[in-house]
Amino acid sequence: MKTLTASSPQALDIAALRADFPILATKIHGKPLVYLDSAASAQKPQVVIDAERRVYEELYANVHRGVHDLSMRASEAYEGVRGKVARFIGAPSAKEVVFLRGTTEAVNLVAQTWGRVNVKAGDEILITALEHHANIVPWQLLCEEKGAKLVVAPINDAGEVEIDRFANLLGERTRIVAFAHVSNALGTVLDARRMTALARERAPGAVVLVDGAQGVPHMPVDVKAIGCDFYCFSAHKMYGPSGMGALWGRKALLDAMPPWQGGGDMILSVAFEKTTYNETPFKFEAGTPNIAGTIAFGASIDYLCGLGLEAVAAAEHELLAYGTEALSSIAGLRLIGTAAHKASVLSFVLDGVHPHDAGSILDYEGVAVRTGHHCAQPVMDRFGVPATIRASLGVYNTREEIDVLVRGIRKVQEMFA
Ligand code: ALA
Repeated sequence: MKTLTASSPQALDIAALRADFPILATKIHGKPLVYLDSAASAQKPQVVIDAERRVYEELYANVHRGVHDLSMRASEAYEGVRGKVARFIGAPSAKEVVFLRGTTEAVNLVAQTWGRVNVKAGDEILITALEHHANIVPWQLLCEEKGAKLVVAPINDAGEVEIDRFANLLGERTRIVAFAHVSNALGTVLDARRMTALARERAPGAVVLVDGAQGVPHMPVDVKAIGCDFYCFSAHKMYGPSGMGALWGRKALLDAMPPWQGGGDMILSVAFEKTTYNETPFKFEAGTPNIAGTIAFGASIDYLCGLGLEAVAAAEHELLAYGTEALSSIAGLRLIGTAAHKASVLSFVLDGVHPHDAGSILDYEGVAVRTGHHCAQPVMDRFGVPATIRASLGVYNTREEIDVLVRGIRKVQEMFA
């Protein structure tokens, strides 16, 4: 793996930025918290916590519904975040940004709107073997309903999508191509640009959706450069609130898609005879939204952009290389996911130790890791393991914390020797 060079972005002062995250001062079983579970959900900086609190203290009213001052101020702050999200991912317009609960809801929305209208019996939906359940099950539901076929591009022993085999699975019948930007279980970074270009070339009738849940917290993302049709992500993995996320889609596609959920705010007029729908993106946002969460989501984007995504990527890459080397030196430990291009994730198994036992023992050392299938059971099947231990990095993690993890793993091994 590459290390920092003279042309690297300004290195982050990790010790200083750790102070932005109050929870990092917490003790677990009397030991300092070593939080290595950011792929499950990242911790929140004070500015995000404050942003959410301030909404309720100073700004709170429903949005898009009032002529009174508070409602207008809340609406302005809420709508301002749409522009932030668009700029954050290089999207051409804030009108192409739909707010929703997160990546899972975004994939379901596309499946149940674009998919229901455009996918027919005999059509194919192409995904990859490293997808999160949220990028598998919504397509399976659609396939069942429509008589379409789910096609899966394989991964190799390193956990990389085999690009030639992926390309060979694209064709006239492919209607949707959906893949993760970064695998949550393995850390593999997919070549979203190349995969999208291949889809355009070989499956001209298909739309391309990228699940960016593990992408946006760790690297700069530009949807124009990727060239995809839909890109979705969750705020809680990028230091923002839970229950909040965004779907970006090309305007023409969103305009042509039917609404998904019906209710207030997604309509222009309602009569018992006929209802007309609001314009994009509001037609996809039925009901009172997560107002404070959206504004705090904006604060998390500001926070990440303030650090600089290039700097975040460089710091995490350096730490991932350190962690990979440290874990590789432990006898009886097998890394699951050894792709050449990875971000943030160290998944592994230990000989003779169930991952859940390891997770519990590590917890007593103050180390929070996720153990299990990581909502990616097909990945576990591919590697012939029921579960892994996953240490996942956030921008606040340090080499010292990796050292604590390594000592914890050695302790686990001693207990099971
Ligand atoms: N998708 C989340 C994870 O990877 C919850 O843990």
